[in-house]
Amino acid sequence: MFGRGGEELLACLDARVEVRIVPGVTSATAAPALAGIPVTHRGLAQGFTVVSGQVPPGHPDWTIDYAALAASGTTIVVLMGVRTLRAICAALVSGGLAPDTPAAVVADGTMPSQRVARATLSTIDAAADISPPAVAVIGAVADVPGLG
Ligand SMILES: C[S@@+](CC[C@H](N)C(=O)[O-])C[C@H]1O[C@@H](n2cnc3c(N)ncnc32)[C@H](O)[C@@H]1O
Repeated sequence: MFGRGGEELLACLDARVEVRIVPGVTSATAAPALAGIPVTHRGLAQGFTVVSGQVPPGHPDWTIDYAALAASGTTIVVLMGVRTLRAICAALVSGGLAPDTPAAVVADGTMPSQRVARATLSTIDAAADISPPAVAVIGAVADVPGLG
């Protein structure tokens, strides 16, 4: 996910280089899972949406409809969003998502240095002393009683 796999495949095909595709496990689900955050916990989320935070709301190249995302009812997973998390959270609140929606950030997922910060949509940016790589998870699944 966001790994330019399609571009690399096209380039290899173009160059007539033989390719074998080996699927991996994305950090979008693995990092939250290791932190006790099941992105589709039954009764809380019937899906999840993964977005890149690389192009933040307000940027000239911005294309994500954050109001639609806020209304989607799905868990929202943000990759590459450390630098832009504040703007993304503000756009989701503007789009109608409740400021007290649970939120979490998982940094260095799978590593001995793994860190997890839990807060709400309106406080996660301040709560999380974040340095990349990190995955942000927004939705009720970020605060499942008994997990994490
Ligand atoms: C260019 S994207 C590549 C993602 C990768 N293809 C995947 O599916 O996990 C890099 C982003 O993935 C996320 N990421 C990768 N490894 C991570 C980890 N160990 N812990 C938390 N987030 C990670 C971060 O959001 C990081 O900015």
